Amino acid sequence: GSGTGASNTELGFKPVAVSTENRAVVPEGYTAKSFVPWGTPLTGSYPEYRADGTNTGADQEQQVGMHHDGVHFFPIDQKAGGNSSTEGLLVMNHEYINQGALHADGPTRAADNGGVRPADEVRKEIAAHGVSVIHIKQGTDGEWEVVHGSPFNRRVTGNTAMDIRGPVRGFEKLITKHSPDATETRGTLNNCAMGPTPWGTYLTAEENWHGYFATADETRPREYVRHGVDSTSRYDWELADNGADEYLRFNVSTLGATAADDYRNEANTYGYMVEIDPFTPESKPQKRTSLGRFGHEGVIFAPAVEGQPLVCYSGDDSRFEYIYKFVSAQPYYAATAGGYLLDTGTLYVARFNEDGSGDWLALSLEDADFAAAVTAAQGTTVGNIAFDGFSSQADVLVNTRLAADIAGATPMDRPEWGAVDPNTGEVYFTLTNNSQRTEDQVDAANPIAENRTGHIIRWMEDGGDHSADSFMWDIFVFAGEQGTETVVDGEAVVTLDDTNIFNSPDGLWFDYNGRLWIQTDGSDAAPYQNNMMLAANPVTREIKRFFVGPQGCEVTGVVTTPDTRTMFVNIQHPDGNWPNSAESRPRDATVIVTRDDGGVVGA
Ligand code: FEO
Ligand code: CA
Ligand code: CA
Ligand code: CA
Repeated sequence: GSGTGASNTELGFKPVAVSTENRAVVPEGYTAKSFVPWGTPLTGSYPEYRADGTNTGADQEQQVGMHHDGVHFFPIDQKAGGNSSTEGLLVMNHEYINQGALHADGPTRAADNGGVRPADEVRKEIAAHGVSVIHIKQGTDGEWEVVHGSPFNRRVTGNTAMDIRGPVRGFEKLITKHSPDATETRGTLNNCAMGPTPWGTYLTAEENWHGYFATADETRPREYVRHGVDSTSRYDWELADNGADEYLRFNVSTLGATAADDYRNEANTYGYMVEIDPFTPESKPQKRTSLGRFGHEGVIFAPAVEGQPLVCYSGDDSRFEYIYKFVSAQPYYAATAGGYLLDTGTLYVARFNEDGSGDWLALSLEDADFAAAVTAAQGTTVGNIAFDGFSSQADVLVNTRLAADIAGATPMDRPEWGAVDPNTGEVYFTLTNNSQRTEDQVDAANPIAENRTGHIIRWMEDGGDHSADSFMWDIFVFAGEQGTETVVDGEAVVTLDDTNIFNSPDGLWFDYNGRLWIQTDGSDAAPYQNNMMLAANPVTREIKRFFVGPQGCEVTGVVTTPDTRTMFVNIQHPDGNWPNSAESRPRDATVIVTRDDGGVVGA
């Protein structure tokens, strides 16, 4: 639709300067307050946060996790068709952890401890990952508070029971001792960005999950090789000193006689988009395998259209990886929509052509072009993998990256978040950076060798139809230092200056009026200084710096209430003792940004 028009995308605030301060900086007339930091009591016995790091693993399972990332606000009355801006479910990801801050005296390393890690440290680390569902409400004084005792408050962690759904459910490469029929797994990890579905659930992305597993096998399956599952794990959870199965599973070595005797396949149960229904606290999270298995940064839905296929987009944030699109097989109807729509459909990968056109390449054995490409690749080496075919569509999906290589997709400069313009339907994606792209690897969509500062690409699907198989693309803006130009038809349509220099765009979100919010996760040295969030007018390409985070952080998720008057901005891996200078350790937190006159944020 034509939406609300350009006037609502204007930027009315005075831009803020770059900053090295250890606080959140917002424009004149705005206020920023930290909220729900790591360790906030959330469920069960509501264990108080202990500033000395002595909370136990059991405490952490009942507290808000660490490293806040993607976030969404669900109005509390959404299921009844309401649009509350004063009460809702704030649902957020906890991407990873700061081990030094998490434990009283830092982590106990296996190398210093007889080759094992204390089981309760492992329990606490796993519990600090995952997702929090936080029931929040604005008091009569306008302050937001957690609703203590609410049945909606929930922690999903790296150990929560989950179902495998879609074509990969029951596939032999997911058989484990825990689930010999390959229908279940435990946990979600490294949850970066997210996407709210049109039916009021939350999809959380599994991004750098490969680092959590270790294998002693010298010969590793292609499912591990293509992602970098190797001989060491990030936190050594598989070395927990109590030998519990829930921790041993991070050792994905071949240990038993068959896959049902060990956890050789455990890492194949990760790399998906995971659906959580925040309004049904007892619901089991569902791994939606139709959307592919890769380093999912997040997911963004095109506006759902009654009677039409449902469409969503997802980027794979690694150097030279791809952008994907899923188109459901069944039509969307609001009255009956649900997660089942994500279980049947076609996964496509993007090819950006040199002339500004693009094509969606189906990753389906039923697609003639893909089937021919698979046949042609048989017996060849694809990347560093000797390719010997796919046994089924489930095999294609478990090996999504390999399938995309074979299809001939365009390797991108690390696709992070996507966003769909509510006024035009254009799709935007951040390409955060790629220092390893060489001169002979540049192409029109990734035109910078050693791209250290990134850019934002956008496209319009042919005919304005999100299920189309082709599109037209352009580059919305190149990030960089003062004077960096984005040129269209020989004219600089953006020239960055001190009000808007930025690097490494990551988080991206269109608010409900159509302003585009750009968050950074890049170099925090001069001239950029601390990571930041900018607002862009997609009509004029005006960009202004709105927010600067505290020291050492990346600025991650962003969302507002439906009235756009309360904004929630996540701060991940801050330094020092932000946000509470009376405490000794940093705490990832949400920042609530409001206008002092109660107006629309950004207007
Ligand atoms: Fe977790 Fe790609 O940022
Ligand atoms: Ca992050
Ligand atoms: Ca990110
Ligand atoms: Ca990033």
